[in-house]
Amino acid sequence: MVKFENVTKTFGSTTALKGVSFAIKSGEFVFIIGPSGAGKSTLIKLILREISPTDGLIKVKENNLQEITKKNLPEYRKKIGMVFQDFKLLFDRTVFENVALALRVSGEKEEEISRKVENILELVSLKDRMDFFPSQLSGGELQRICLARAVVGEPEIIIADEPTGNLDLGTARQIVNLLKKINETGKTVIMATHNFEIVNLLNQRVIELNKGKIVSDKEKGKYHLA
Ligand SMILES: Nc1ncnc2c1ncn2[C@@H]1O[C@H](COP(=O)(O)OP(=O)(O)OP(=O)(O)O)[C@@H](O)[C@H]1O
Ligand SMILES: [Mg+2]
Repeated sequence: MVKFENVTKTFGSTTALKGVSFAIKSGEFVFIIGPSGAGKSTLIKLILREISPTDGLIKVKENNLQEITKKNLPEYRKKIGMVFQDFKLLFDRTVFENVALALRVSGEKEEEISRKVENILELVSLKDRMDFFPSQLSGGELQRICLARAVVGEPEIIIADEPTGNLDLGTARQIVNLLKKINETGKTVIMATHNFEIVNLLNQRVIELNKGKIVSDKEKGKYHLA
């Protein structure tokens, strides 16, 4: 589903990723862990094709990302649902509208939009908050809306960059469990975090980055700092 072959990314004199190779299968749940500056967000931006590698090959489904034209980029990005640490919600729109927005741009019928948004808000247990504004909700609730927004368009891959960074451990656990639930519906989930406690909430594959290199790639099992 996602394949990196010897990928290097430099920014001026900084090497953010160096010779990174891995393959993630369809339907997998993978944590990307590493300290600040390890290259986690760079890896994610490369998958989204927000940036291009300095060297190496990246494939997502059978697409070589360097061959995707500017015109086809929006179509490509629709395959990916993104969740951010800082939510990136529109604070002047309701919960319903924030989630519906992704569907409106693709021109779906209003009834269809309502049905899908309500279903997904049910999944994240926030249907009763549908008409609230983001400022009226807690951090954990805001992140659940972001999850709903990421999955409503039925992307094949969900990528979360430090989605629990602003949350306490109990609330973080809810978010991670929801990501797992989404993964169990067949979606590929990639989650980046610097927090080992969070990784140990689930028994999943962990790719560890440090200073731009993969230092371990463990199938499953409790994770400990090397
Ligand atoms: N646009 C950029 N220009 C210059 N340097 C960059 C840029 N983006 C990232 N870097 C550098 O690349 C390295 C990796 O950054 P990255 O954001 O991928 O780390 P991270 O693992 O996501 O860290 P954090 O846990 O703090 O989010 C850092 O040294 C960073 O300063
Ligand atoms: Mg980051």
